[in-house]
Amino acid sequence: MCRINNFIPILTLLMHISSNEAGRRTCGGTYTAARGILATPNFPGPFDVPIRCQWVIDSSSAAYGSGNTSIIVYFTQLFTFEGLTFTEYQLYGNDYKINPKLIHKVNETNVFRIRWVQSYQSYLVIELKMQSSESAHIRVLDKFLDTYGFNITYEITTGGVRSPSCTMMDCGFTGICFDHYTKFSCKCFDGYSGPSCSEGPKSFCYTNGTPTCKNGGTCLHVGVAAVKCHCSKLFTGNTCETLLEPASAKGKVLLCILGSNRAK
Ligand SMILES: *[C@@H]1O[C@H](CO)[C@@H](O)[C@H](O)[C@H]1NC(C)=O
Ligand SMILES: *[C@@H]1O[C@H](CO)[C@@H](O)[C@H](O)[C@H]1NC(C)=O
Ligand SMILES: *[C@@H]1O[C@H](CO)[C@@H](O)[C@H](O)[C@H]1NC(C)=O
Repeated sequence: MCRINNFIPILTLLMHISSNEAGRRTCGGTYTAARGILATPNFPGPFDVPIRCQWVIDSSSAAYGSGNTSIIVYFTQLFTFEGLTFTEYQLYGNDYKINPKLIHKVNETNVFRIRWVQSYQSYLVIELKMQSSESAHIRVLDKFLDTYGFNITYEITTGGVRSPSCTMMDCGFTGICFDHYTKFSCKCFDGYSGPSCSEGPKSFCYTNGTPTCKNGGTCLHVGVAAVKCHCSKLFTGNTCETLLEPASAKGKVLLCILGSNRAK
């Protein structure tokens, strides 16, 4: 059985280098409503490059009061890990930009792990800037999911972060994360079901009715062909089969690609 500590290698990360055509589509904009959707042009399809888009979320309106208003962006459907930054400003206008602070930059490591960003400043500016690559876009296992850019949601609220929210990873890459504004949920692809789309006839989380992750470990799909076991504190191993010495029990997360061993 193979063992990979990071799931990224099993995703095929593709860089599409495209022509010098300027991005012609309009993109970005200013958002003052209490909630909304921020998406790249032509989502989920490819967009023209070079591209530079700015989504300005403005919570300065008196309607939001002063209290504990924050701007929260939920990374529900985020498929790009390059050139995407989140900067908060105390004031933001054409001629003035006061107190900028970069609060998040999406990268290969955090793209599916970070579920949301929050700012207590009046303005949050999300910028997508790509010169020559169409996108470092994520393609999971042979076109199963072949999606560009992002389709994420924001909210201006005094209510704090809604939880649990989801990312593509929480939906096992076998479903898509949606924000319904009162709650989040995964919409599973055919053959998958359950809150994280890791159950159902096509799931590897069970083999002949037996859970793949032993000893109470939780099973999550990572695309169609792999699962990841989150072991309970006392166990380790690809399928949580090994009892740990109590001193070293740390609740390790290991990844296991199932294939030929499935029949075992
Ligand atoms: C703001 O939040 C803090 C901590 O989350 C809380 O103690 C405080 O009462 C809140 N203030 C208002 C005006 O809601
Ligand atoms: C990715 O971003 C995280 C913070 O979200 C940072 O800790 C990490 O070093 C970055 N990784 C790379 C490869 O840039
Ligand atoms: C974008 O995300 C929103 C909220 O999750 C969803 O309602 C909408 O259907 C999505 N759009 C596309 C094109 O997937």
